[in-house]
Amino acid sequence: MRNLNADNITDAVIKEFSGCRDERLKTILNSLVSHLHAFLREVEPTEQEWTRAIDFLTRTGQMCDDQRQEFILLSDTLGVTMLVDALNHQTSDSMVSESTVLGPFYVADPPEVAQGGSIDWDVEGEPLYVEGRVHDGRGEPLANVVIDVWQSDSEGFYDVQKELDSVSLRARFKTDEQGRYAFWTVTPSPYPIPTDGPVGKMLELTGRHPYRPAHVHFMLIAEGYETLVTQIFAENDPYLDSDAVFGVKDSLVRDYELCSPGKAPDGREMQTPYRYLKYDFGLKES
Ligand code: BEZ
Ligand code: FE
Repeated sequence: MRNLNADNITDAVIKEFSGCRDERLKTILNSLVSHLHAFLREVEPTEQEWTRAIDFLTRTGQMCDDQRQEFILLSDTLGVTMLVDALNHQTSDSMVSESTVLGPFYVADPPEVAQGGSIDWDVEGEPLYVEGRVHDGRGEPLANVVIDVWQSDSEGFYDVQKELDSVSLRARFKTDEQGRYAFWTVTPSPYPIPTDGPVGKMLELTGRHPYRPAHVHFMLIAEGYETLVTQIFAENDPYLDSDAVFGVKDSLVRDYELCSPGKAPDGREMQTPYRYLKYDFGLKES
């Protein structure tokens, strides 16, 4: 092919992929080329702008290591992660819980904690008691479901951001015969996503704030069911309608109820005010 111009280069590139034997890969690349070329025809970037775009992506890659994934953060802040989530997990079944972004702070195989135990090692904050049940799509309790939990502290930091000697505010629980789970922790607060890289610069240049509303993360794993990755957000949080990563859904917002000192739901005598969060999860059969 020769003498290509803005009108015929897209077809020429797509034709070059015509011999691709993997039909799915061919479909994806054809669509990528058509949409990318259409985007460029619409935006008509200058060469300086295109160089700047390449530089942005280069710096995004250079920011990544085994602790930091700036490309996922870019996907999150452009709404791409939640679009992929919606395309894969959209459900109209009210018995099945909705999913949302995983985020960068999940650590596999957290320490297993007994039902009702505390996960607030090495942190201070307002006590929070969390409990609920896990059921299937018909409301039947599911026993032995693995529940990984992780969250920020009351200043908005995850343990992995604080270089602690041991883990804190992350743990694994297993549901009992009635599908119940329960634990004590501290109340999380809203926090900014990492802003010291190119994604932070993009937010700053575009006048966007980096905050996420306060939440606790959950990952539920059970044989025969789709793994559920989700978060429970605190009602009345100022960032519920402007989450930097577009992850809030109404069904995932709950009152982190402020309770006076006295007997907590698990019988513990509380000397100070504390909060109480109750959430039941529904899993979808795989
Ligand atoms: C989080 O909730 O941990 C998170 C999600 C997406 C980007 C950054 C943080
Ligand atoms: Fe988070």
